Amino acid sequence: MCGIVGYIGSRDASEFLVEGLRRLEYRGYDSAGVAVIDRGAIRVCKTTGRVDALHGRLLSEPLPGHAGIGHTRWATHGPANDANAHPHVGGLGEVAVVHNGVIENYAGLRQQLEGAGFVFRSETDSEVIAHLIASCLDTQAATDAARANGAGLRRDVHASLVTAVRMALAQLRGTYGLAILFRDHPDVMIAARLGSPLVVGVGPQEHFVASDALPLAGYTDKIVYLADHQLAIVTATSLRITHRELGAVKPSVEVLQVDAGDRTLNGFDHFMLKEIHEQPESIRNAMRGRLDVENATATFGGLNLTPQQLSSVRRIILTGCGTSWHAGLLGEYLIEEWARIPVEVEYASELRYRNPPVDANTLVFAISQSGETADTLGAIREMKRTGHRTLAICNVVASSIAQEADGGIFLHAGPEIGVASTKAYTAQCMTLAMLALYFARMRHLGFEAGRRIIDDFQQLPDKLGQALQTSDQVRYVAEKYQHARNFLYLGRQYNFPTALEGALKLKEISYVHAEGYPAAEMKHGPIALVDQQTPSVFIVPRGFVYDKVMANLEEVKARGGPVIAVVQEGDRRAAQVADDVIEVPSISESLQPLINVVPLQLLAYHAALLRDCDVDKPRNLAKSVTVE
Ligand code: G6P
Repeated sequence: MCGIVGYIGSRDASEFLVEGLRRLEYRGYDSAGVAVIDRGAIRVCKTTGRVDALHGRLLSEPLPGHAGIGHTRWATHGPANDANAHPHVGGLGEVAVVHNGVIENYAGLRQQLEGAGFVFRSETDSEVIAHLIASCLDTQAATDAARANGAGLRRDVHASLVTAVRMALAQLRGTYGLAILFRDHPDVMIAARLGSPLVVGVGPQEHFVASDALPLAGYTDKIVYLADHQLAIVTATSLRITHRELGAVKPSVEVLQVDAGDRTLNGFDHFMLKEIHEQPESIRNAMRGRLDVENATATFGGLNLTPQQLSSVRRIILTGCGTSWHAGLLGEYLIEEWARIPVEVEYASELRYRNPPVDANTLVFAISQSGETADTLGAIREMKRTGHRTLAICNVVASSIAQEADGGIFLHAGPEIGVASTKAYTAQCMTLAMLALYFARMRHLGFEAGRRIIDDFQQLPDKLGQALQTSDQVRYVAEKYQHARNFLYLGRQYNFPTALEGALKLKEISYVHAEGYPAAEMKHGPIALVDQQTPSVFIVPRGFVYDKVMANLEEVKARGGPVIAVVQEGDRRAAQVADDVIEVPSISESLQPLINVVPLQLLAYHAALLRDCDVDKPRNLAKSVTVE
């Protein structure tokens, strides 16, 4: 799971490759590398660590050249070290390959290739592709030579390369996005896709290859999205695409809709902190143009469904991974409560291989910040395959999920760089809340009730802004419990997803174990963990289940467990029992989770700082998981 880039044209290739890789680091940052063709040789520079480290190396040992490929890695096969970093060189240096995906049958292929004398330098599954292509190039060269002798003809060299690459690809089982350089053919690069997204950027006298559109912003606004089984034969001045079964395909050039976005820290120490603080604005942006006050409802431009189709919806499936799945859980509460439509929230990784009975009146929403998560993409493809309408709730506009869904809603949260999702989560929750209102008003919810919900929506940004002011108090709490090795996060009803999300944030960036649980379920197991060293974070706003959650809080106190309570302002009762209290502004019960999550995001942030962790790029994680 990784990011790949390629360039062929008249620029210095490394310059684009490094900038492109920086923009793809959200896909992984275990190692980075580039390969460039220079004076008849493929020269490689690669290193463990970030693109910055690669850039440093390239500054001291530049790789000049006008054709090159690059890679930023999230390790799957073999640890993060220099040898396992891509690009991988095949044969005796004839080809270099960068790969995103997983080759499932790599072990057998490796054995076969080693038997044939190929020398492996890494533990990766990807290196087999490089040697396999080198081996197929040899076979093809022999066939070409025999044909040439027989017929006195010289074969089209690019056609021979394509045949060799196709021969190699036919032996692979798994997924790949590939960019391939050929030492003896510096004028051409081949890109291939099966299961892992790949795009080609078209410029005057130059072409770019990348895992997604982001690296192209600012370089070209013309983009071609490759489909599975397609292979692009790219030179500086030409682009040909062939499909495994369909043969030549006319490239469909689209206008690129993304810009690289604001990727500066704007005075903040970390992107995560900046993004936490951007939430009042990102919530406003998610709502902009979508609140129809006159009709007390929400409106969405891109659902691509007729009013008849929408009013016949009888069931909704929300699917996603990680934080997006948590947003789905809150969506379930809101849609069921307001619109009375049954909702199921499915882990995309489970949904894609389950075979649930789904009838014609079921709508499937894929929730994904990046729009590139492999399992979420796999789940909507499976749903589409069985004839169901799929809609996307995505942040990244030109992403694969946004492209493949039948319609959807963009979050408009702006680029989220910190690996731990914050502003995208609240924007997803906001979007699902608007969706709940929309479906509710199509059914039974009256005008007045709809208006009250809109009033609450409009108060959210300011109240979120006030919740940010808890930061100093949260830092104090983080310091107090900085040596704790385990945390419990407990909440109920609308705040059960908040508990899960708070625990996930802490785990992700501070590497402290945390478990999120429904507060009442705690007594069926997790309560055994309670001791003086295990703080419990209770999310306990006033409302229907307040007394019940307070009872759970007392149960933890009775067993000597320290309690941190996130409460609404002015809650004296909780303050008397809890060891530490964080007060947040009040809003309606169903929207309170959007406010409550803010101090939990800040708690994770401060805990990570105190433990000296890399807040924006935590170990072992990636912003977008593009393998299953
Ligand atoms: C990764 C990220 C999480 C994110 C999840 C789903 O695990 O580290 O922060 O929630 O993927 O990503 P998506 O882009 O589909 O929302």
